[in-house]
Amino acid sequence: MSAAAQASGASPKSIRARKGGAPLACLTAYTTPVARIVDRHCDIVLVGDSVGMVLHGLPSTLAVTLDMMILHGQAVRRGVENALLVIDMPFGTYEESPAQAFRNAARVMAETGCAAVKLEGGVDMAETIRFLVARGIPVMAHVGLTPQAVNTFGGYAVQGRGADAARIAADASAVADAGAFAVVLEKVPETLARAITADIDIPTIGIGASAACDGQILVVDDMLGLFTDFRPKFVRRYGELGQVAAEAVAAYCDDVRARRFPAPEHVFSDVAPGTSA
Ligand code: KIV
Repeated sequence: MSAAAQASGASPKSIRARKGGAPLACLTAYTTPVARIVDRHCDIVLVGDSVGMVLHGLPSTLAVTLDMMILHGQAVRRGVENALLVIDMPFGTYEESPAQAFRNAARVMAETGCAAVKLEGGVDMAETIRFLVARGIPVMAHVGLTPQAVNTFGGYAVQGRGADAARIAADASAVADAGAFAVVLEKVPETLARAITADIDIPTIGIGASAACDGQILVVDDMLGLFTDFRPKFVRRYGELGQVAAEAVAAYCDDVRARRFPAPEHVFSDVAPGTSA
């Protein structure tokens, strides 16, 4: 199935041109209604593979499939008119070779209409990023804490402290040199984020990487208070929608059990309105 390509609004080129300018505001989205809300305000809407954890209840992002990303990508595409739509490449769909990455990224773009993909990795993925960009696939990179490498890291700890800073800095330089139009910096110390942001010529989009970055991204369910299994230190809650939803569901059930719902205004009579019996 093909999807209408994203034509209007932000582009990888216009996002890249925002380097050093007003901070880029970015959020994830996984459904059409949330995409519509986010699109009205954000520069980038990311269909993150975090969808596996926040919508599907998976313990990590590792089991997320290309089909899941395409299905959610299509839903989000219907709600995005202004922001740049970026879709995550899930674990196992791009690491094997540049050719595998191209085949799967091209499918994501053709079937969702997104304008760019995101993939995790630095020096090790530079060749793949170069290959994709040269063939018409804009890439947003992701370095620092890369959640698909949770088993290699042994958890979700801060990356790039002390002597490890040079590794993350090299990753950021490598993806910028390879042609990525922006890079997500996840869970790295502020001093390192500041140094990388000064050093590379593409926007850094921070998540747990301080306000020194060129922009910020959060998982929308985290900042709305809809995903409450755990709360990373870097998340600020801008709403408590999980609590609001729980109270609404409880009130509904109370009303049903007390026969307060449905009320007269929710009930149909024998006679259609405006007709006489
Ligand atoms: O999967 C995701 O949502 C992400 C963002 C948190 C950057 O990669």
